[in-house]
Amino acid sequence: MSNVVVLGTQWGDEGKGKIVDALAQKRRVAAVVRYQGGNNAGHTVVVGGRKHAFHLLPSGMLYADKTCVIGSGVVLNPQVLCQEIQHLEAAVGDAHARLLISEKAQLIMPWHVLRDRIAGGVLGTTIRGIGPTYADAVDRRGIRWVDTRDKARFAQRVVEELAWNQYLIQAMLEFGRVPREQRAELQVTETLAEEKVIEGYWRWITEIREKPFVESGDVAVFLSRLQARGKGILFEGAQATLLDIVHGTYPFVTSSYPTLGGLYTGTGFRPRNLHVLGVAKAYTTRVGTGPFPTELSDDIGVQLRERGHEFGTTTGRPRRCGWLDLPILRYAAMVNGLDSLAVTKLDVLTGLDPLQIAVAYEMGGKRTETFPVHTQDLAQAQVVYETIPGWQEDITAATRFRELPKAARSYISRIEESTGVPVTMISVGPGRSQLIKRG
Ligand code: GDP
Ligand code: IMO
Ligand code: MG
Repeated sequence: MSNVVVLGTQWGDEGKGKIVDALAQKRRVAAVVRYQGGNNAGHTVVVGGRKHAFHLLPSGMLYADKTCVIGSGVVLNPQVLCQEIQHLEAAVGDAHARLLISEKAQLIMPWHVLRDRIAGGVLGTTIRGIGPTYADAVDRRGIRWVDTRDKARFAQRVVEELAWNQYLIQAMLEFGRVPREQRAELQVTETLAEEKVIEGYWRWITEIREKPFVESGDVAVFLSRLQARGKGILFEGAQATLLDIVHGTYPFVTSSYPTLGGLYTGTGFRPRNLHVLGVAKAYTTRVGTGPFPTELSDDIGVQLRERGHEFGTTTGRPRRCGWLDLPILRYAAMVNGLDSLAVTKLDVLTGLDPLQIAVAYEMGGKRTETFPVHTQDLAQAQVVYETIPGWQEDITAATRFRELPKAARSYISRIEESTGVPVTMISVGPGRSQLIKRG
C-alpha cells in the first residue's frame, strides 16, 4: 500500500496524531496532508516525554525530510498558524518538515470567531470560527489564501466582508437578545475595526509567507506529481465520523467532512492504492453537546476521564466518557470503508473489571445492530451491553500482541469480530514506542 488515510471513528480525540506520527516515520512517506477542519482539532504527539500539540499543522511536522500540506478543505486562521509555527521552531529549531499551503484554503476571519461566539454555544463548539467560515465558503463569500498574494486585494476583500458582517453581527445580537454585559465582552467594535483587521492579519500572513520552508500553491498538482514518482502520501483526518456534517450526529457535528469523502474534496486529488485506517479509542469520549448513548455519569466515567487525561487539547474542556460502542465502530467501518483499525488507550482500561461493551441498541422494544445516527432516534435508544472480563496487569510496556493479558486480547478480538475489520495497531500509552503493530 503506498497511501494511507488516518481518520477518527468516534467523536474525535481518538489519538489520530499519535498514529499519524507513527506512520509518518516510514521512509516511503513523502508527505503528510491535512484535508479538512481547522484549529478546532488538537492532535497530540509525545516524543521523549515532550508533548507537541498540533492544531493546524499536520502531525508529520516533526520529520525534517517530509512535506506537510494544508489542503484546500482546511479552514486556516493565520494568527494560529503563525503562532503554531513559532512554537514548533522554539521546540525543534529547523528540524521540521516543509509546509505547503493550498491557495484554495479558506481563511478564518475575526467575524467568523465572533459569530461562533454568539451562536456556537448551543452546540458546544470550540468557538474557533469553524462553522461560520465553512458557511461563508459555501455562500461564496469566503476569503481564501490565494487572496493574500497581494495586500491590496486582501484589504479590498476585508473591507467588503466587514461591511456585511457589521450588519449581520448586530442582527445576531438583537435576535439572540444577547445581554448588554455579554455584548461588552464580545468587543465587537474593536474586533471589527478595519485598520486593525487588515494590518494585524497582514503581519501574520507576511510572517508565514516569508518563512523559507513555506510554499503556497496547488495541492492537487503537488500530490499528483508525488504519486507519479511512486512516493507515499499520508492523509490526516481531523475530528471524526460522528462529527461529519452529513454522516454525523447532526446538528451536533462540525462543519466539514471528516469521513473519507473529505479527502477528495479537501485535496482535489484521488490517491491510488489507498489504505483506510480508522482510529478507535478503547472506550468512547465526546466534547460538547449532543447524544452519547454509552456515556457514564458515575464513578467509572470519572475514572476514565482522570486516567485517560480526557481534557480537550484545544479548549481544555473535560471530555464526556463512556464505554466502547460497537454499533458506532461498525457504522464508521461502513461509511469509510475501513481496511484496518488502530485501537488506542487500551492501557486506560487496566484495572476496570468487568468491562462493558455496547453491542446493539433497543428502540421501541426492537433490537437493532445499526447505529441510529439521527439525533431523535439516538436519544431514545437503549443500549444493549455485553459484560466481559477486564485485566489488572500493567500493559504500558507491551510491544507484542502476545504480551497482552488474555482478557485484553479478547477485548481486541471482540472488536474485530464485530466490525469485520482487523486491528493492526494497538496503542498502550501516549509515547512513540508504546505501540503494538500486528499483521
Ligand atoms: P486526536 O485529536 O485524535 O489526535 O487525539 P488527542 O491528541 O486530542 O487525544 C488523545 C490523547 O491521548 C493525547 O493526549 C495523547 O497523547 C494520548 N494518547 C494517545 N494514545 C494513547 C494511549 O494509547 N494511551 C494513553 N494513555 N494515552 C494516549
Ligand atoms: P480532533 O481532530 C473532539 C466538536 C466540538 C463540538 C463540535 C462542533 O482533535 O479529534 P466546531 O468548533 O468544530 O464547530 O465544534 O465538534 N469538535 C471536536 N471534538 N475532537 C475534535 O478534533 C473536535 N473538533 C470539533 O467540541 O461539539
Ligand atoms: Mg484532539
